[in-house]
Amino acid sequence: MISKDKKMKKDMKFMEDNDIISPDYSKQLLEINSDSGIILSDVHSPCYDSDMMQFAMQIAAKFKVENVFLNGDFMDCGIWSNHGGFDPQDWDNEIHQTEQLLNLYRKLFKKCYWILGNHELRYMRETGYRVKFKHLVRQVGIKENDPWCTISENSYMRLQTSTGLDIMLTHPYGNYSNKPLATAEGISIVEPYSIIVGHEHHQAITTSPDGTRVIANVGTMIDHRKVAYKTRKHTRHRKWAVGFFLIHRGIIYPFHKENFLTDREFWLNNVKP
Ligand SMILES: [Fe+2]
Ligand SMILES: [Fe+2]
Repeated sequence: MISKDKKMKKDMKFMEDNDIISPDYSKQLLEINSDSGIILSDVHSPCYDSDMMQFAMQIAAKFKVENVFLNGDFMDCGIWSNHGGFDPQDWDNEIHQTEQLLNLYRKLFKKCYWILGNHELRYMRETGYRVKFKHLVRQVGIKENDPWCTISENSYMRLQTSTGLDIMLTHPYGNYSNKPLATAEGISIVEPYSIIVGHEHHQAITTSPDGTRVIANVGTMIDHRKVAYKTRKHTRHRKWAVGFFLIHRGIIYPFHKENFLTDREFWLNNVKP
């Protein structure tokens, strides 16, 4: 019997050479402590909604917002679209428009945090993943170790506030549900944080069943009229929700493009910062 065990051990020895563990990228977590920020997800530059972007910048200026959180798909990388490359925006235009937007943010915000979305990933995919996210952002004026802008090669970042929020801001590409909150709730079951997701272009906000955490979809800043494929075929996707979140004094405020959800006049002229 013993000799049989020995033989089996010998036969399984090859498995020892197979113990190659991949790096744990979650340890490279981008962590921020702040009570002041604007969360812009799915800007899809240059296809963003100019009117909504201007409003977001007015809100940022009025409330002296310190940080801008770019929650993935900040760039569209439209020339590499799998939807047939119908989008009229070329790469020069995308770079030029994105640089201009970032220059404006540089004037308005003390810090910028930018995580990877599946649209930025298109750029890396097209080079067979030989280049990284940091190489893409260099094209739009973000230098390596730029003190103003911190990027993450991961598609999530953690934000903690003095009001007790501990939020994972995430762009969960590869997951899509037509139901707002479904993906965010799914992630909140396996992650211990409040969860704010982009990617799906929905906007909704609720709490976990025990009421202790926030679960939300932040919305998109896209102008669907600038995305050609959207007008050339039908999908089951619900209408994209154009909006953003403000974090002011550690509290979350959702803003939506629809007038019946956000009274711009009230926010810009009546509310004291
Ligand atoms: Fe997106
Ligand atoms: Fe996305």
